[in-house]
Amino acid sequence: MQQAISHRVAGPYTELAAMYDATLGVPFFVGTRRAFEELVRRYGINFRSAADIGRGTGLFAGYLSRRWSIPTYAVDRSPAMLAIAMLNCTGCEVGFLQQDIRCLQLPQPVDLVTANFDTLNYLLNGPDLRQTFRRIYVNLRVGGYFIFDLITPCQPQDSYLVRMRPLPGSAFEPRQQILWDGLRRLLFTTIVLHKPGAFALISESHVERAYSPLQATRWLGTARFLIRDILDARTLRMATGCPPRIIIVAQKPHEYPARCCQTGVH
Ligand SMILES: C[S@@+](CC[C@H](N)C(=O)[O-])C[C@H]1O[C@@H](n2cnc3c(N)ncnc32)[C@H](O)[C@@H]1O
Repeated sequence: MQQAISHRVAGPYTELAAMYDATLGVPFFVGTRRAFEELVRRYGINFRSAADIGRGTGLFAGYLSRRWSIPTYAVDRSPAMLAIAMLNCTGCEVGFLQQDIRCLQLPQPVDLVTANFDTLNYLLNGPDLRQTFRRIYVNLRVGGYFIFDLITPCQPQDSYLVRMRPLPGSAFEPRQQILWDGLRRLLFTTIVLHKPGAFALISESHVERAYSPLQATRWLGTARFLIRDILDARTLRMATGCPPRIIIVAQKPHEYPARCCQTGVH
């Protein structure tokens, strides 16, 4: 006789929080750290304070604080992710702020702001992204860097399934069902999980908006950032064409150029 499996729908970054590192967070963090260290070397970036915005479970904020021995702010709006981040950053010099990054307000300006793994794609319209760029600019010291990734409208497929690392103690293989709506530039992700020891399956739905390198470049310029580079996240070479994910290295200039909108569009 077949038994029905019950299924519960949860809000974004609620139930996933406890399982995030094992399924998504750690594998992505390994690549983010590698890319970041290469960029720090390449651009000679010096920093004595930092903020990781959309910090999720705090893996990158904890890394910044431990590896570079600097005070770091870790900003996110999700209380469930905050609880995990506090555990991950035990013993680090990390200050936790529960804020919406559209209204970012750090206790003091920092030398470096990072936003990794689609964080800015969770801003679903241009005005919100532009507003966030302005808030980051205000919260950076002069000469400070802003390094972030973005998914672009050049997504490879309309719909696909991503199998995730199984969780210890669960026979169920978590998965992500991804749907790309190219017309609206929206990426819909449904993550289906099984909590070890629980009966029901849980699903969380996430929506992201893709932004083109040109949009990001224009809006960073309007916010008065100088763009040091736009890179293909996969190769860390200059982005040519439109890779599915880019990394942008931007800087708050020492002096704003007399002619505004000095942007390096590739
Ligand atoms: C895909 S996760 C990335 C987490 C982390 N940066 C990483 O690399 O694993 C996106 C994070 O951004 C946060 N987030 C999304 N929109 C936000 C907003 N408007 N303000 C603050 N946090 C936000 C979510 O709560 C989530 O923790």
